[in-house]
Amino acid sequence: MKILAIDTSCDESCVAIVDTATQRLLADVVHSHLGKMASYGGVVPEIASREHLKALPLAMTEALAVAKLTAREIDWVVVTSRPGLIGALLVGVAFAKALALSIEKPFSVLDHIEAHLFSPTLCRLEGKEPPKFPWVALVVSGGHTELFHVTSALHYKWLGGTLDDAAGEAFDKVGKMLGLPYPAGPVIDRIARESGNASAYDFPRAKLDGFDFSFSGLKTSIDTTRRKMSPEVLEQNKSNLVASAQEAILDPLVERARAAARDIEGATIVVTGGVACNSRLRDKLPEAYFPLPRHCSDNAAMVANLALLHEQAGSLVVAPWNASASPSSSILGNA
Ligand code: KG4
Ligand code: ZN
Repeated sequence: MKILAIDTSCDESCVAIVDTATQRLLADVVHSHLGKMASYGGVVPEIASREHLKALPLAMTEALAVAKLTAREIDWVVVTSRPGLIGALLVGVAFAKALALSIEKPFSVLDHIEAHLFSPTLCRLEGKEPPKFPWVALVVSGGHTELFHVTSALHYKWLGGTLDDAAGEAFDKVGKMLGLPYPAGPVIDRIARESGNASAYDFPRAKLDGFDFSFSGLKTSIDTTRRKMSPEVLEQNKSNLVASAQEAILDPLVERARAAARDIEGATIVVTGGVACNSRLRDKLPEAYFPLPRHCSDNAAMVANLALLHEQAGSLVVAPWNASASPSSSILGNA
């Protein structure tokens, strides 16, 4: 079976194709719209939706060409339907439905966080050995900071998450306050590595019970610090501010992931999501497994991989074609 997977949850139009018989990835296409967002300092949801409308058909044509397939040779269409920017998601879902209807094949919806969560198993589609279960999995992206205990494929328990900003959002907001372009995560990573002193400023790390995170105090502290500086002094200290802020975002991630792993015998720490591209985080967690950077940030290969896991487990459920005015029978059954 050839599964075509689509992801339009944020500002990348992504299409991938997986062959369930050979368990190989046949195509993995990402059309990024970051360039269109740069002058706004963040993602503009309306622009993202419009860009998906233009780019998604092109991304699908490219994926089919790379896989040397026609649309009619696709056996199943899957798409992430949550969570994300609602307009952007709706473009992907409507496109996936129309495609599946036109080629008369089934269509399923999948969860974007679950796709990130199981992206460490994606390497098997490229002939490599994935990390062994159990995992302590940290999903750190622009929209999410979640910690999970994963016992096996598709079986997991949520341990905690952020109470306010996501880690990637904290990188982007700190960057904006210090005049860096969007997305600031990769820029902060580079500046900190090349010229920053991470001990120059002692920014706060939220001390919360359990496995939750909070980054709003850090933002306030950076804002207070920069307001006390003249523009010249701010410019001179920018590398050190950036490196110290990065350290304050990463320390709680490392500390909670290790604390969770201590409670679970034989656990491997895995880290996914855009922030997992961060070179300092990779240095601070040498014992952890990180997927390839292109599989950490948004992509559809992770969605195709999740579809394959569900197909193997018999849980790839066909989504209904239409909206319905009636309540679902499962809800009525529980009444
Ligand atoms: O997973 P992703 O591509 O999209 C979401 O689902 O949100 O993550 C994007 C986030 C952005 O906030 C970006 O600044 C951050 O990941 N990011 C990084 C790095 N590369 C991307 N943060 C820190 N260091 C990086 N190298
Ligand atoms: Zn994501």
